[in-house]
Amino acid sequence: MKTTMKTILAAGVMLTASFGFAAPSAAENVDKVYQFYCTQCHGADGAGKGINVTEDFPVTPRAFTNAVEMSKLTDADIVNVIKEGGPITGKSAMMPPWSKTISEEDTKALLAKLRELCKCQGPAG
Ligand code: HEC
Repeated sequence: MKTTMKTILAAGVMLTASFGFAAPSAAENVDKVYQFYCTQCHGADGAGKGINVTEDFPVTPRAFTNAVEMSKLTDADIVNVIKEGGPITGKSAMMPPWSKTISEEDTKALLAKLRELCKCQGPAG
């Protein structure tokens, strides 16, 4: 009898420990990072129509949903543009550099998110 109670109690404690303090998943986190830093230009849905993009915006931010264009970029290109800004790959400086703002880990998560949005891979090789 006593042992049974103890076992049940121990199981309860373990459940609380594993579910009670769950840290936000990487996926939830990258969505926050994207919303905070990218949505205003690239759009919440990644279609390139963020709130910043008015008629006099000199270049159109890349639509991440454009698989044809996005599949021309290697994973390294995407990471470099996010870190160093548009000019690193000959694109517009309207795309800011983020290396001082966004961690390496979140940058990799953003790359994965962009690949999900375009449902595409970079060029082979
Ligand atoms: C101030 C507006 C702005 C913000 C904020 C912004 N971008 Fe951009 N981004 C641009 C513009 C404009 C371009 C297109 C530059 C060009 O085509 O010359 C671009 C291009 C890119 C490209 C390269 C696409 C290509 O075809 O080479 C990537 C990747 C990218 N942005 C990712 C991001 C990510 C990830 C974030 C958030 C961390 C972000 N951008 C935030 C404006 C912005």
